[in-house]
Amino acid sequence: MGLTSPFKEQPAQSLTRKLLPWTIYALASIALFHLYFYPLTFNDSPAYELSRPTPILISSSFSSSSPAPFLKEGREEKEGRERESEPQPSCDYTNGRWVQELTVGPLYNGSSCGTIKDGQNCMAHGRPDLEFLQWRWRPHQCSLPRFDPNTFLDILSNRHIAFVGDSMARNQLESLLCMLSSVSAPNLVYTNGEDNKFRKWHFPRENVSVSVYWSPFLVKGLEKSSAGPEYNKLFLDSVDERWASDLGSLDMVVLSIGHWFLHPAVYFEGDSVLGCHYCPGVNYTEIGFYDVLRKALRTTLKAVSERSRANGGKGKHMFVTTFSPSHFEGDWDKFGACPKTRPYEEGEKPLEGMNAEMRKIELEEVQSAKEDARDINGFRLEALDVTRLSLLRPDGHPGPYMYPSPFADGVKDRVQNDCVHWCLPGPIDTWNEILLEVIKGWTRQSLRR
Ligand SMILES: *[C@@H]1O[C@H](CO)[C@@H](O)[C@H](O)[C@H]1NC(C)=O
Ligand SMILES: *[C@@H]1O[C@H](CO)[C@@H](O)[C@H](O)[C@H]1NC(C)=O
Ligand SMILES: *[C@@H]1O[C@H](CO)[C@@H](O)[C@H](O)[C@H]1NC(C)=O
Repeated sequence: MGLTSPFKEQPAQSLTRKLLPWTIYALASIALFHLYFYPLTFNDSPAYELSRPTPILISSSFSSSSPAPFLKEGREEKEGRERESEPQPSCDYTNGRWVQELTVGPLYNGSSCGTIKDGQNCMAHGRPDLEFLQWRWRPHQCSLPRFDPNTFLDILSNRHIAFVGDSMARNQLESLLCMLSSVSAPNLVYTNGEDNKFRKWHFPRENVSVSVYWSPFLVKGLEKSSAGPEYNKLFLDSVDERWASDLGSLDMVVLSIGHWFLHPAVYFEGDSVLGCHYCPGVNYTEIGFYDVLRKALRTTLKAVSERSRANGGKGKHMFVTTFSPSHFEGDWDKFGACPKTRPYEEGEKPLEGMNAEMRKIELEEVQSAKEDARDINGFRLEALDVTRLSLLRPDGHPGPYMYPSPFADGVKDRVQNDCVHWCLPGPIDTWNEILLEVIKGWTRQSLRR
């Protein structure tokens, strides 16, 4: 019978499948590696700038058997109650297209919001084309309303939301802060760590707290440093307590990781070394980063759900923002590294390779953690699936405008480009629009019960 040929072919096929994306991504990885670890010296670029993810949201709300005690009665809820008779089908925000909208601009700009990280303030840095601010994401199935800061603050009042992860988590947090600040003034109430890796703001009027925690692997890790080893060390079986020990006081958590996994690293599980990635000179087996990302997420989501279960749930609401594609087209240190000024058309840029794989791993781990957590009172977990919508925005990155007026003295031989993070305002504001829609959906759902 046909046993022989499949047996012969399969290993080779799967090996090719495993190795191919790698060779391709080795290049991207090297570019990122250089961008982040060997920045051109004309300005300081903290190593922690490293990573950011691009997620898109899939939102079929997880209907846990229990209501979400967390959500309070507010404007949105009342609206939800009116609509109770016509249950809103959950929307797939993943698939859609960018449409130009000239009339309504962003809720903030480079000067009205004071908390934009310097490297992402494209407007203040003189980016000449501002057409990238004119696009709105239009999902095929439903409408995505403009972000309403008052609704967000209303729903989250007396709550604490935290963004945990790498510099993409911070990028998303800063987008949210800018939009919320357009209606209510926050106070910075806590800051710790170099480059403000840990910060907390408080909106006194609504009693909403917003925090950011630096944790580029979510699990315990030692980041490469000039003093230490030339690679990161990841401890895949332990969650990073720098944020996880605060879980008890967090009502909503947005986890966002990805790009740091591309860097040289040695992986530990318990006392043993699992392998390494991109690690010449270290005598361990190269195992890539896909399985490592999976393990890190699994450990993290398990820790979160176990602690929520032990705590009686307390209505903890979790998001995992999916991978955020970068858009390097040329050398990272040359003029025109990410030169596009318009979004891709739908279908023009397939979601494939590493972007697709990272996203898939994240979606799978979220799905499986959701199933394991079904019994937990008030616990919700959703992927904020932004990979596809972000992939279509090659025009949304700072590029050379990570620095002020990069071409004031003409075009130089070398110019550092950021084609990873997103300009603020910019396409990343859409992530928070989707975030709010999902939260609104949960609110309506919990009222219906
Ligand atoms: C930014 O927004 C503020 C407040 O809405 C406005 O007064 C200002 O003119 C805007 N600046 C630019 C450069 O658009
Ligand atoms: C403000 O919000 C926090 C949660 O972030 C809550 O513990 C506290 O009780 C709230 N304060 C008031 C006055 O409701
Ligand atoms: C690398 O590991 C192999 C197998 O464990 C060992 O035989 C070899 O001596 C090691 N090489 C170095 C340079 O440590």
